[in-house]
Amino acid sequence: MFDKCEYIISAVRKDQYPNFQGYSEFVFLGRSNVGKSSFINAIAKRKSLAYTSGKPGKTQTLNFYLIDGAFYLVDVPGYGYASRSIKDRLYFGEMIEEYLEHNLNLKMAFLLVDARHEPSQDDKLMYKYLKHMNAPVTVIATKMDKIGKTHLQKHEKMIKKALELAENDKMIMTSSEKRTNLDSVYAVLTPLIGR
Ligand code: GTP
Ligand code: MG
Repeated sequence: MFDKCEYIISAVRKDQYPNFQGYSEFVFLGRSNVGKSSFINAIAKRKSLAYTSGKPGKTQTLNFYLIDGAFYLVDVPGYGYASRSIKDRLYFGEMIEEYLEHNLNLKMAFLLVDARHEPSQDDKLMYKYLKHMNAPVTVIATKMDKIGKTHLQKHEKMIKKALELAENDKMIMTSSEKRTNLDSVYAVLTPLIGR
């Protein structure tokens, strides 16, 4: 899909963000271990552009990946990781808030939720927060390979209802492992590149 994917920088503060040119940015938000980094690798078609782990809490900084010299995918630390200290949770929360605030380059926030489970309180809060910030949102349900086909529709409905998903916001059921429905993700992302 994309020819060139480059890791640019791991940032923890605004003055470290690389995008002075004002290229389009896409950010991937969600609970720790929901599959944000895996999703970035899947859409970039790279095995280990972003580091992934079976254990939650792997991504600890805002990681900027420049794709085809034209736009950025931004991986961020997950929220809702219970063993994290309160201090760390605040620190990561503020890091993400600082990123989302007044970010004119941000063309789409992808909110990742686990397709298997009812969205957590944190998921609901994050969706509300993004709406409050007027950020464009697409919900990505991850790991759908772990759900039987007959249950997919039920889970999709359950997630939409719990998040109180706005009519204009899209939700896409995906699997990074099986590369399911990534075409629908490209259909959202591609028209926003270079704007
Ligand atoms: P943090 O960096 O800790 O916030 O986590 P993350 O959201 O980046 O999750 P990560 O991509 O590291 O993936 C967490 C675990 O979920 C890993 O063991 C992945 O292999 C697994 N995983 C991710 N996507 C899928 C998927 O589509 N299907 C299945 N079965 N497992 C997946
Ligand atoms: Mg990660």
